Amino acid sequence: MVKVMNIGQNLEFINGKVAAQTGHTVTMVDVDVVAVDKAQKRIENSVQRVAKKKYGDEEEASKFISDTLGRITTSVDAVTAVGSTDLVVEAIVENLEVKKKLFSELDKAAPSHTMFASNTSSLPIAKIAEATSRKDRFGGLHFFNPVPVMKLLEVVRIPETSQDTFEAMTGWGKALGKVTVECKDTPGFIVNRLLVPYMFEAVRLLERGDASARDIDIAMKLGAGYPMGPFELMDYVGLDTGKFIIDGWHKEYPDMSIFNTSPLVNKMVEEGKLGVKSGEGFYNYNKK
Ligand code: 3HC
Repeated sequence: MVKVMNIGQNLEFINGKVAAQTGHTVTMVDVDVVAVDKAQKRIENSVQRVAKKKYGDEEEASKFISDTLGRITTSVDAVTAVGSTDLVVEAIVENLEVKKKLFSELDKAAPSHTMFASNTSSLPIAKIAEATSRKDRFGGLHFFNPVPVMKLLEVVRIPETSQDTFEAMTGWGKALGKVTVECKDTPGFIVNRLLVPYMFEAVRLLERGDASARDIDIAMKLGAGYPMGPFELMDYVGLDTGKFIIDGWHKEYPDMSIFNTSPLVNKMVEEGKLGVKSGEGFYNYNKK
């Protein structure tokens, strides 16, 4: 059993929920008390749904629910909560300076054995780890949406990540029921490095008028076996998230055309068309 602190709601604490369901104790932390309360309600509902699916109406269902929820505590004070934590999984806002500030504070308060991990989609783990004095106990743990369904967990090593830390993080991921892959601290790790340029290349096809979004989606689902087409996926992930990732890489590597930005995505984000979460992206989700 690992005592985990899941900080920030980029994944709506869902990786924390998955951890609690598999026997780990979890403290879910966010600075916003209202957000923490709302997340807790969502998690209670989700655990109830999982229990019903797993055990139906049997007695085990209520035991599963009470055991899982019993392993979850919440807090708005990360620095205090980290005092009794073995592993921190950070999923706060994708801002390097904000992440560094947080980890620098946690570094001073955490026990020496505590491992730190970031769930960043596209920022360099090494740059975040620089804020701490425990680079050997630092790595990336990158989950995928929807976390309860997607089997993959990328475990990212920086040169300083110790073998013990890497093995402990991998072991924790496996205990959560994930399949782990190992990757160096390269932009986008494995999945986003391939997925994000692919989505933007699809947008370029659309921008040139070569094919419609719907036909490109159908083509990739039926021609390549992807569960969602690139536009469905972009709407699902959020156009703002896609734009944030590509903008950051383009700035860092301006000569690499696979990281080129898209005028269409820029315009849509400006108009608030962010995908499923805003009700409209490449598709309209407000229609009945
Ligand atoms: N939470 C929990 N369970 C969920 C869920 C969610 N948000 N969404 C779907 N599920 C479950 C359903 O309950 C269902 O379970 P069941 O089979 O036991 O009944 C199962 O998943 C399948 O769901 P559906 O039948 O509703 O829908 P689909 O078969 O179309 O699957 C999907 C939905 C799993 C989202 C599938 O379309 C898919 O795999 N899409 C691709 C997702 C993907 O590529 N994710 C990676 C994004 S990139 C990323 O996250 C990285 C980040 O850094 C940007």
